[in-house]
Amino acid sequence: ENNSQDAEKLAAAKAAVQFVKNNDIVGLGTGSTATLAIQELAKLVNGGLKIQASASSVKTEELAISLGIPILKLETLGSIDISIDGADEFTESLNLIKGGGGALFREKIIASLSKNSIIITDSSKKVKMLGAFNVPVEVIPLALQFVLNQIEKLDGKTLLRKTNGRTFISDNGNYIVDVDFGLLENPAQLAFSLNQIDGILAHGLFIGLTSKVIMADGDEILVFK
Ligand code: A5P
Repeated sequence: ENNSQDAEKLAAAKAAVQFVKNNDIVGLGTGSTATLAIQELAKLVNGGLKIQASASSVKTEELAISLGIPILKLETLGSIDISIDGADEFTESLNLIKGGGGALFREKIIASLSKNSIIITDSSKKVKMLGAFNVPVEVIPLALQFVLNQIEKLDGKTLLRKTNGRTFISDNGNYIVDVDFGLLENPAQLAFSLNQIDGILAHGLFIGLTSKVIMADGDEILVFK
């Protein structure tokens, strides 16, 4: 992380919030880039923009509330007008790896509900092929060993996520397993295979869920859609 990367994140965040309209229901992402968008959105709300929002994590919900953004419970929402979130990797075909922050399940529900799902990134997130970043997989605890066995059959190298020596627990009370599958020749096929494994709540492959990626590269804003 460096200053130019932070400046790119901010530029992408500022570009994205321009797409939010009065009376929109807005999905709020998680992570350092999404945080910048939430701060920019709060400025618009304080200037009179009327929105309601739903958050992809406890952390984001607390941030939004602290900034005066009205929050709706996700479980009550049948659709979201626009969502803004970050990504760990993306390709020009608009497939993503997400979940570096561990919020992948709610992020995926929000993206799936969104009519307009916008991803914002700095220039380091664009890749030719997904997979240098390990694929986060959220696992129901009692199924851990079963899921590890199944992922190993798919040739994935598994690592149970820890933070400061302690097993990471998601907002949903589950584990995150970070999986090295190597570079992904066919991310859609892998997503399908992971979807078949009982005990996986969600994985970080976002296939066909994104409307556009707004990426800042130096002083330039690039839009992939
Ligand atoms: C959170 O679970 C992730 O999906 C984030 O969107 C991702 O890790 C990007 O985070 P940064 O914006 O901090 O790079």
